[in-house]
Amino acid sequence: MKPPLLLSYVVFLIITTQSIPSTTGAKDFIYDVKGKKVLNDAPYSIGPVIWAKGGGIKLTDTKNNKKVCPSYVVQDPAEVNKGGEFLFTLISDDEKREKYLQTSRTLGIDSGRPKNGSCEKWTFWQIADPDAKPPSNLVTTGGTFEEDVSCFQIVDYPKPTSPKVHSYMLQHCPYYCGGTPPVRCYNVSLYEDKGTRHLSVSSGTPFEFVFEKAK
Ligand SMILES: *[C@@H]1O[C@H](CO)[C@@H](O)[C@H](O)[C@H]1NC(C)=O
Ligand SMILES: *[C@@H]1O[C@H](CO)[C@@H](O)[C@H](O)[C@H]1NC(C)=O
Repeated sequence: MKPPLLLSYVVFLIITTQSIPSTTGAKDFIYDVKGKKVLNDAPYSIGPVIWAKGGGIKLTDTKNNKKVCPSYVVQDPAEVNKGGEFLFTLISDDEKREKYLQTSRTLGIDSGRPKNGSCEKWTFWQIADPDAKPPSNLVTTGGTFEEDVSCFQIVDYPKPTSPKVHSYMLQHCPYYCGGTPPVRCYNVSLYEDKGTRHLSVSSGTPFEFVFEKAK
């Protein structure tokens, strides 16, 4: 009698063990280009999977040679440029801060402390009105943490360009942070205006990007 009992226990164990990933609570970590887990609230650059398609994401405070405030979040036209450094910070109810970034979790994206002389007080990415036309649906700085306008999440890119690297897309989710029912999120894509590629929620292929840790 003993061996069959043991066997069925082993089978039961295998079944229960395999069903664990489908239950809630499993964490979907985010990985950088080197395959390392992306840290929560730490400086990273983001850029396209294939750098020939342009450089990294950065801020610009000029448009048509005029100063603008707050800054726009744009793609550097030169592929050699990694762009700026940004801190992706999970919005969490836990007192304890999470160590690693995860997909499908609301977060704020900080451009760092305002520089001396810069026009803006706050440096989180925001979108003034995702349902409006440009420039209102372009990503700018000037937001604060944990607001509806500055609420984003990162999700796996549905059809990655390369099976070797982890690539992601960004979504703007104002309803997820504002206390209203989580109606929908908006895909962030590139919107070209007079030669400048803005991050925006204008329709179009979502912007596919990778993380690179800042030195
Ligand atoms: C900018 O920097 C200068 C020199 O370090 C300092 O005297 C000044 O108070 C700063 N201004 C602001 C707005 O922080
Ligand atoms: C967002 O992008 C994904 C992948 O391209 C697409 O399947 C989905 O329909 C898009 N969602 C919206 C709201 O546009």
